[in-house]
Amino acid sequence: MICDNISVNQKGRLAFAGLDTVDLAKKYGTPLYLMDEDKIRENIRTYKTAMAEYFPQGSVPEFASKAFSCKQIYRIAKEEGINIDVVSCGEIYTASSVGFPMENSFFHGNNKSDSDIEFAMDNNVGHFVCDSLDELGAINSIAKQKGKIQKVLLRLTPGIDPHTHKKIATGSVDSKFGFAIETGDATDALKNVLDMTNISLLGFHCHIGSQIFDAHPFMQAAEIMLDFVAAAKKEFGFDCQLLNIGGGFGVRYLESDPVIDYKEMISRIGEFLNKHAEKKGISLPKILMEPGRSIVANAGMTLYTVGSIKEIKGYKNYVSVDGGMADNPRYTLYEAPYTVALANRMNDKKDFIATVAGRCCESGDILQENVAMPKPCRNEILAFCTTGAYNYSMASNYNRLPKPPVVMIKDGTDYLAVKGQTFDDIAGLDV
Ligand code: LLP
Repeated sequence: MICDNISVNQKGRLAFAGLDTVDLAKKYGTPLYLMDEDKIRENIRTYKTAMAEYFPQGSVPEFASKAFSCKQIYRIAKEEGINIDVVSCGEIYTASSVGFPMENSFFHGNNKSDSDIEFAMDNNVGHFVCDSLDELGAINSIAKQKGKIQKVLLRLTPGIDPHTHKKIATGSVDSKFGFAIETGDATDALKNVLDMTNISLLGFHCHIGSQIFDAHPFMQAAEIMLDFVAAAKKEFGFDCQLLNIGGGFGVRYLESDPVIDYKEMISRIGEFLNKHAEKKGISLPKILMEPGRSIVANAGMTLYTVGSIKEIKGYKNYVSVDGGMADNPRYTLYEAPYTVALANRMNDKKDFIATVAGRCCESGDILQENVAMPKPCRNEILAFCTTGAYNYSMASNYNRLPKPPVVMIKDGTDYLAVKGQTFDDIAGLDV
């Protein structure tokens, strides 16, 4: 199986985190997002222990909450004692509402409005990660008005090609994110920010992209970032306390994807950072990483009910389900692969090849193509594995479809973490 929380039970049905998925579909209805809380915690602890072992003292993971944001994930992050990355006032509001210690949050984004900045400061967001002089100026003056000194990291673009889908690569010089090191913009920004009275610069950040399987691009980025840290010390006497090397470790969506040992990747990056810092004659700052996908992706599964089955002779077969691009836009956006299973009959022969289509009124609403499965019947359950990242968080109300509920599983017990939307949740906002 693609992950160790997925199995086939004695009834020949798909089990997730030890529970029968067909029973869960019956209990909560479909579409249904499932999240395995134990797996989320296990993934967090993998990062936490490896970073404590291989990076300088005080190095902690930040959960990139854009991958999956709801109250319960912030409670889990708080209990596990990790930091969070937030990118909007909505995420800040959600995290604050469950008492997440906001001094341990990092506010990202290439365009924070003045009201975003005020909201974040009023909610005691600990750190801002910035990549524009306009924004730094606004932060400085708003902090002055509020009588605050705001901690900031500068986001830099190291100019690395991480060999991932172009829509999720972020570290190239022409990216909308970051001050480019190559062009001298990063140095100019540093010079400017050091003169800002109400900003305390703690260090630098980079994020090169997402769904990256190899440690090498991270080392390339780390090398460029440490060179910059050394130059900042030499030219400006700036002591870098925090270096954030971003998120982006890949996850397995298909059996054919490599199995990644995150601990091993972190140890290799740690070894490289130590060696390179020594070579440059600098002491290594605390290292932050901000994984999103690799914390929650394999903790998730989505269940759908099969509806129409259409065989277009000599062409292709369609299996339509009761969800689609509104609850998972990732195939439409990136042709993202998923492992798909007919949950009712896991031991039957997979001799039917079909395109899984969503229910939205749009040809592009496809969830997966060329899937081998037993020929399904109407009302059977189709499961998409590894949907814990960027599914619920990217869901929309396209076609006025309500967002499905999120059910979490802990120690073999299921509980509702996010209620499904009602029609009134959607239409009720209309005036
Ligand atoms: N830090 C920053 C600044 C980021 O922009 C991201 C992701 C992360 C951390 C977390 O990266 P991760 O560990 O999750 O790869 N919607 C796309 C992914 C977009 C990633 C955006 N930034 C998808 O569904 O594949």
